[in-house]
Amino acid sequence: MTKYEIMGGKPLHGTITISGAKNAAVAIIPAALLVDGVCRIENIPQISDVSLLLQMLQELGAEVRTVNRSTVDIDCSHIRNRQVPYELARKIRASYYLVGALLGRFGWAEVPLPGGCDLGGRPIDQHVKGFVAMGAQVDVHSGLICARVPEGRVAGGSVYLDMVSVGATMNIMLAAALASGMTVIENAAKEPHIVDLANFLNSMGANIMGAGTDVIKIRGVKRLRGGTYSIIPDQIEAGTYMAAVVAAGGDVLIQNVIPKHLDCITAKLLEMGVAVEELDDAVRVRRTGPIGRTNVKTMPYPGFPTDMQPQIAAALCLATGTSVLTEGVFDSRYRYVDEFRRMGAHIQVDGKVAVIEGVPYLTGAPVHACDLRAGAAMVIAGLAARGVTEVDGIHHIERGYEDLVGKLAGVGADIRCITTPDNDTQTQVG
Ligand code: EPZ
Repeated sequence: MTKYEIMGGKPLHGTITISGAKNAAVAIIPAALLVDGVCRIENIPQISDVSLLLQMLQELGAEVRTVNRSTVDIDCSHIRNRQVPYELARKIRASYYLVGALLGRFGWAEVPLPGGCDLGGRPIDQHVKGFVAMGAQVDVHSGLICARVPEGRVAGGSVYLDMVSVGATMNIMLAAALASGMTVIENAAKEPHIVDLANFLNSMGANIMGAGTDVIKIRGVKRLRGGTYSIIPDQIEAGTYMAAVVAAGGDVLIQNVIPKHLDCITAKLLEMGVAVEELDDAVRVRRTGPIGRTNVKTMPYPGFPTDMQPQIAAALCLATGTSVLTEGVFDSRYRYVDEFRRMGAHIQVDGKVAVIEGVPYLTGAPVHACDLRAGAAMVIAGLAARGVTEVDGIHHIERGYEDLVGKLAGVGADIRCITTPDNDTQTQVG
């Protein structure tokens, strides 16, 4: 079994460079299915979700060529197969973007239901609502999402989303790009990766207006040609390292970011008494004194990101005072709390609210990464804890963080990836 081993208590000093945004990349790669030509995509993060999606496109007949570590050429001009492999698709959430892309390209899609982090109920009813508004018949059976348009090409349509949904907003945009008419999405999500997908599609010849606001209009076009596009930096990866500096202490320059995308995270860190300096494409984070308590409520962008909830909780475990954390997006995003308690954290959870009573220190322990962001939070807690922390389940973390160990070791963290015999028996009690 591979796991991370962390010797905590070392403040972080130096520079970390942020990679391309995971949640932009996992929508932009499927979007290449809409393009009749070669898409050169730059600043792609080296993470397993991206590798899986590129593999799915190859299974559909796309030509994928690695240009360098963070650049690929994707040519979907000669797609022949339209069956997405079941075992690949169910490994990640973002496979559902293949529905919108295949429906938009061919008027037909049959894609296995997605997997992804267990955050409570994650229905796709809003995605379906959008596809139906564009004239599609959608049926979910045998573990598949089956969508088809009798006329062979999606029409335009209007949809008012019942709740702000990143996935539904992006999926409807994908299905609408080549539609025969105008599509309007109201109550749309406004995350930076929504804008990035719209910019990618427009750079290939689409006609999308209003991305980044809550009303997005997509005027369908006949064809998308090839081109080159560079993915934005990852807002959540940057925020994760910002929270790591808060918990472990130190002074780190986090470069290749768009500071505007970090506004809400920066505001929270300032409330906690942390020094955050904004530069053109970087933020400098310094924490030398005590960590102040604060309250956090996660909301759709531009609110505090739900994908930063476990990470800020790790820092608040060490705050002087009691903080209240409210999860405003998902039903159940506190599965990591029991793992923090193993390290001496004092957290009480009631529904969507967690009350975090700061403690003077955490102690290292063997802990489990139960999902992508919870895993990152365990690493953050380990960096601050006294003694050794071992984090297993690191495959979750490697879905969304490129070279996390290398980036943290580069700023002085004592962290390494180790392999232990799989017969390492854990005494189960109770
Ligand atoms: C995307 O998930 C991200 N995943 C998540 O990031 C992120 O936490 C989330 O957006 C919110 O920002 C990807 O982009 C691959 P939603 P998604 O649709 O699209 C409910 C990470 O750590 N809902 O915005 O699934 C849903 O249950 C991952 O990088 C419906 O009820 O999120 C949730 O409560 C974790 N019906 C809320 O809306 C629907 O049809 C927001 O979900 C769709 C969503």
